[in-house]
Amino acid sequence: MLIVTALVLAACTDTGGDAQRDGPGGSAFTPTSIAVPNPTTTSTTRAPGPCPARPENCTLAMAGRAAGVRVGVALMSAQLDDPAVRDLVRTQFSQITPENELKWAQVEAEPGEFDFTAVDALVDFATAAGLETRGHTLIWGQRYGNGMPDWVAGITDPAIMESAMRKWIRTAVGRYRGRIQRWDVVNEPLANPGTGLDDSPFRRVLGDRYLDLAFSLAAAADQSAQLWINEIGVENDPARADALVELVTRLRIRGVPLHGVGLQGHFDKGTAPVQGRIRQLVDRLRPLGVEVAMTELDVVRRGDVSNPGRAQADVFAQVTSECLDGGCEELSFWGVSDAASWLDAQLGRPAEPLLFDALLQPKPAYRAVRDDLARR
Ligand code: G3I
Repeated sequence: MLIVTALVLAACTDTGGDAQRDGPGGSAFTPTSIAVPNPTTTSTTRAPGPCPARPENCTLAMAGRAAGVRVGVALMSAQLDDPAVRDLVRTQFSQITPENELKWAQVEAEPGEFDFTAVDALVDFATAAGLETRGHTLIWGQRYGNGMPDWVAGITDPAIMESAMRKWIRTAVGRYRGRIQRWDVVNEPLANPGTGLDDSPFRRVLGDRYLDLAFSLAAAADQSAQLWINEIGVENDPARADALVELVTRLRIRGVPLHGVGLQGHFDKGTAPVQGRIRQLVDRLRPLGVEVAMTELDVVRRGDVSNPGRAQADVFAQVTSECLDGGCEELSFWGVSDAASWLDAQLGRPAEPLLFDALLQPKPAYRAVRDDLARR
């Protein structure tokens, strides 16, 4: 056990907000030592290679391995039907994230009826290709229908809610024990917009302890998995960043087995966050004894600038370099190529927010990220 002392004082500057009240019995927040469980060390080991000398000969994964950084990509099982996509994912990335098919609603649409067919295809592909997998996501209080099952949202009895969570988490995490290396145990715990904890059915029925419960169930199901929180909209919003730091601090003080914090990194306007904000956030989180990663990176291609490709590359470069400078050990991108992105529907036009274009050709943003990784 590593003991991290009194860092909390520096980490928690904001005493307002619901996150202050999420302790057992709503106890007052007390800065103290944090007993940090040993997180599983990343399996991305540094490998010497040609990347620093000749980045143009390297893939993202090669440059990432040389720098000790996982490079991930979100995808859906149907994309594996395309051999060109399979090749690209195999060579350019070192980790996959199931974009949708491992959400609770997708796997257990009706209570007790589990269907892991699509997830099996993704995890089998990753395992055969020597890639790791980020399990996404066990609990997502704010999204029903496609994310969490509607039947869960209808539960009002604490014992029934706890038993539903136990069955789902045990089944999913247990099934992929040793093959899914890290899990987004709780996705987006903060209200959005807002800075308090979200008003989800889980929290309404179980109180704030739903967080502790989710993590302890996941830990019990696979002791070697890294367990993460994954949050949206914190990179350029100081109040939400404070709330996230505060929440992570409190979870660590409570001894919750939390090993990593994902910053999703959706830049849906295509503009850069204020310079230094991401670095500052990473610098506040890592001393709490957690790994930090960009987990869902995408940057909309702007239509109102003279060189949109360059502008997009500059935003990717700023975001990824600040994270890596701060010690992030993973960059994951929310989609393989511009052929399909969740942002297309959001914007009502092709968002083109990824590193590869719709023909799977690398864009300026690809070279910006790859060259940064290769320099490290
Ligand atoms: O598969 C159905 C299809 O049969 C149907 O015809 C179509 C009609 O709308 O919907 C399809 O399902 C959609 C699904 O994506 C697959 O494309 C759902 O409506 C749509 O809600 C779903 O959106 C996903 C969203 O999470 C909600 O689960 C996005 O693809 C996915 O990229 C997005 O990912 C989230 C992360 O999980 C958490 N962080 C934010 C991120 C972006 O919202």
